[in-house]
Order: sequence, then structure tokens, then C-alpha cells
Amino acid sequence: MQKDKPFSQACENNKAPILEKLAELFKQPGTILEIGTGTGQHAVHFAGHLPHVVWQPTDHPQNAQLARAWIDDSHLTNINSPIALNVLDGKWADLPAIHGAFSANTAHIMAWEEVEAMFHGVAGALPKDGIFCLYGPFSYGGQHTSESNARFDLSLRTQAPHMGIQDIEDIKALGAETGLALEEDFEMPANNRLLVWRKS
Ligand SMILES: C[S@@+](CC[C@H](N)C(=O)[O-])C[C@H]1O[C@@H](n2cnc3c(N)ncnc32)[C@H](O)[C@@H]1O
Repeated sequence: MQKDKPFSQACENNKAPILEKLAELFKQPGTILEIGTGTGQHAVHFAGHLPHVVWQPTDHPQNAQLARAWIDDSHLTNINSPIALNVLDGKWADLPAIHGAFSANTAHIMAWEEVEAMFHGVAGALPKDGIFCLYGPFSYGGQHTSESNARFDLSLRTQAPHMGIQDIEDIKALGAETGLALEEDFEMPANNRLLVWRKS
């Protein structure tokens, strides 16, 4: 067991409720692409409980090796090595063929142009009827779903003006533009959502 692995308490809190949904949504064998893997806690938890899929972690080149310790420690054979992928760079064609995609807590960290690039890239990589699960906080009609999300949004925008909670209407319009239709919008603990997009 490696010591001092990167650790996110939020991942520990949300991994079980997210897995419950993913187990229903990713029933077929195949490869799941993860965008913005972070520490790797999600990758290890989901791959460990979904043995019929191959998990493909990716992250921005600055963070792509962050997940390495959790993956190595897991000894799971259904997680690929993390790939450096900046959604803006468009190296989507170099990725392995996928049948689904997942990303958590990335849309409010990315600038809008990065969210656009993520949707275009995922839509291009998914097969017809493939699913993209996007987890995180979102606003509705410009309204936050809780006081804590409003405070979180303000703190993000104060840290960096390009960050902030995205509005569902903007994301839905982007989905429509890229051929990803919003099929489900699940309420999740701690004022988060799991948005399920299907490639048309
Ligand atoms: C708040 S962390 C979320 C990490 C993990 N998914 C989680 O839920 O804990 C945001 C992640 O988005 C990634 N990210 C930000 N901009 C990116 C980009 N342009 N391309 C790919 N990943 C990006 C960061 O490197 C980071 O790992």
C-alpha cells in the first residue's frame, strides 16, 4: 500500500451514490472513458465494482499522473494507465474505442470553451446510443439549487473568473449542438446532479 496517496473526501462521500447509477447505466461490456479523473478514487471504485467494463482514466497533462498511486495500489486489471488529455487539445482520435464516458466535478472547473471541447470530443468518441454521465453541481434558469451551491459558485468565480457552476440550459443547448440529448437528470446527495446524455 502506497502512503500519501492524493485524497478527496468528496470522492469518498459521492462514490457510492454515483456507482449505484453507473451500475444501471453501464451494463454492457466495453471501455468507459473518464475525463478529469483527479485522484483516481472514482476510477478504482467504479472499475472494482464494474468488472465487465474497462475503465480508461484521463486528465489534463498537469494532473494525468495524479491517479497513478490509487490505480497501482488497486491491482485491478480492468483499469488502463491514465492518459494525458487536455480536452482543448483534441487528441480524441488517439484514445481507445469507447462505449461510454464519465466525468465528475469538471464542468465548473473548466472554462466554457473547455466544456464545449469536452462535449464535442465525447460526442465524437461515443458510438451511436452511447452514454455520457456528467456529475456535479448545476444551476437551473440561472438559479442555484441551494445556498451552499451559490456560495461555492461565488468562491470559484473569485478564485478564477473562468470557473463557475454551469447552467443546465447552456449545457442542454451545447448537448443539442453536439448530438448529445439529455436523457436523465438525477438528483444526487449534497446538491449535485448526475446528467445522462445519449448520443443520437
Ligand atoms: C475538481 S477536479 C475533479 C476531479 C475528480 N473527477 C473528482 O470528482 O474528484 C477537476 C478536474 O478537471 C480536470 N481538468 C480541468 N481542466 C481540464 C481540461 N482542459 N482537460 C482535461 N481535464 C481538465 C482537472 O485536471 C481536475 O482533475
